[in-house]
Amino acid sequence: MRLAVFVSGNGSNLQCIIDAVQQKMLNEITIDVVIADRDCFAIQRAEQAGIEVMLVTRKSNWADEIYATLKSKQISHIVLAGFLSILNNTICEEWKNKIINLHPSLLPKYGGKGMYGLKVHQEVIKNKETQSGATVHYVTEGVDEGNILMQKTCSVDLNETPDSLQKKVHLLEKEILIESIKVLYAKAQGAD
Ligand code: GRF
Repeated sequence: MRLAVFVSGNGSNLQCIIDAVQQKMLNEITIDVVIADRDCFAIQRAEQAGIEVMLVTRKSNWADEIYATLKSKQISHIVLAGFLSILNNTICEEWKNKIINLHPSLLPKYGGKGMYGLKVHQEVIKNKETQSGATVHYVTEGVDEGNILMQKTCSVDLNETPDSLQKKVHLLEKEILIESIKVLYAKAQGAD
């Protein structure tokens, strides 16, 4: 399985995939390119691991450039790991059911445009939710709308802050991300 990982930020989830590949927890899976839509720490993580990086600026033909790179590298699956831009329909269709995104809430709650980072956790606490969690879902053109592949929940405690909740959810994200990549691999082998 040839992965492209899309990033915009810190890249801790990218790091988690890099580590899993290096520790042979993800056999027959390679990260063939990391695509970033802005300068970010995730780029350093990729370079450190010797992975090719493509930095795309959001100009008019950026989707064409991404598409050409994915094709030339024969990418089979795409992981959006903290990627803050939206992929166009051509890419979503061509890699249908082969693109996953990680979201720091129990979708369909707290998803959609503008719902990212600490904002998600602030809203969860404001609404006095007793549970939150992380979701991996398939990517369609709509924001955070594709079918859910995996979720894990955690409690929202009485003295919870957005920061503390974010830390809890980050741990869950890493678990379901690796598990989800294994599911994609199993499906690709026709063994689902
Ligand atoms: C994660 O919380 C993920 O759910 C969201 O963006 C964040 C990325 O974190 N989509 P990182 O860049 O992987 O550290």
